[in-house]
Amino acid sequence: MGKVLVTGGCGFIGSHTVDKLIEENYQVIVIDNLSTGFITNLNKKAIFYNIDIRDKERLKEIFENNYFDYIFHFAAQINVRKGEEEPFFDVDVNIGGIINLLEIIKKNPPKKIIFSSTGGVIYGLTDILPTPETVEPFPICIYGISKLTCEKLLYAYWKKYGINYVALRYGNVYGPRQNYLSEAGVIAIFISRILSGKECIIFGDGNQTRDFIYIEDVISANIAFMNNDITGIFNVGTGIETSVNRIFEIIREKIGKDCKKVYGEEKKGELKRSCLSIEKIKKQINWLPKFSIEEGIEKTVDWFCLNFRI
Ligand SMILES: NC(=O)c1ccc[n+]([C@@H]2O[C@H](COP(=O)([O-])OP(=O)(O)OC[C@H]3O[C@@H](n4cnc5c(N)ncnc54)[C@H](O)[C@@H]3O)[C@@H](O)[C@H]2O)c1
Repeated sequence: MGKVLVTGGCGFIGSHTVDKLIEENYQVIVIDNLSTGFITNLNKKAIFYNIDIRDKERLKEIFENNYFDYIFHFAAQINVRKGEEEPFFDVDVNIGGIINLLEIIKKNPPKKIIFSSTGGVIYGLTDILPTPETVEPFPICIYGISKLTCEKLLYAYWKKYGINYVALRYGNVYGPRQNYLSEAGVIAIFISRILSGKECIIFGDGNQTRDFIYIEDVISANIAFMNNDITGIFNVGTGIETSVNRIFEIIREKIGKDCKKVYGEEKKGELKRSCLSIEKIKKQINWLPKFSIEEGIEKTVDWFCLNFRI
């Protein structure tokens, strides 16, 4: 079928993408520095290199020995709060990392590079909801600014060197294997806290909304973009807003334990509402999410109940 490079393939979204690619008979090479990912997430049929995306020399070596038909680029500093605390680190990994990759592949581009951007924070304070891709992004956090810069870099390298790309602006992705220690991923954090007998902390009044999308829907969008010549930017979400309070209630209904919540101080700079229009992706590739938030949370709770260890 062809060879695929997955950066960040030991992480949450990366490892599910690897599983799907292997199921579809692709040969998969993963690079990951295991900073937030886990080797236990990795499919045994993938070839693994413990490399930092910023390591020019080792990255070059991989490309000297392989041609990749497709590249999924997931390796990133993913934590919005960490981006604020350590902006230079965020820029180094996220912008430095993709430049490293693009500089190497410009001589011999893959058929497509599929980049994981953010729909959750890229649009900033817009009051157009659900937000279509035509709204000009004005992120108000370093992480969003670095992801937007990556999109601009992809566009420039496409125009200059013909590197075909899609930048997928994911909503808030959740599901099995999400890292509950990373402060990103409220659903994984709530479930793991409840299973360890701790209370869930809701920052602010809990009425803030997000577009939560189940991992299997994200994977189906990722794979769908391999099978066409489309280039550009796409939201990948559900078009539905769900509040953090509602998320807590759904999890409580599913776990059925005496789950407690406490309200903490609102996090400065966090968006009040976020929701993605999915008209473009629907129209152009006929993709639709399949899982309701209730179904997705049920599957996630089931997985955590089996796999979560305190
Ligand atoms: N989870 C979400 O809701 C969400 C939403 C929008 C976009 N994204 C993007 O999707 C991608 C995957 O996110 P995720 O939720 O799976 O996070 P994750 O932390 O589980 O995965 C990231 C992976 O990249 C690896 N990594 C980090 N820095 C690296 C480096 N310098 N060199 C090599 N590997 C490195 C980590 O070890 C990890 O395995 C990220 O680019 C993230 O910004 C995620």
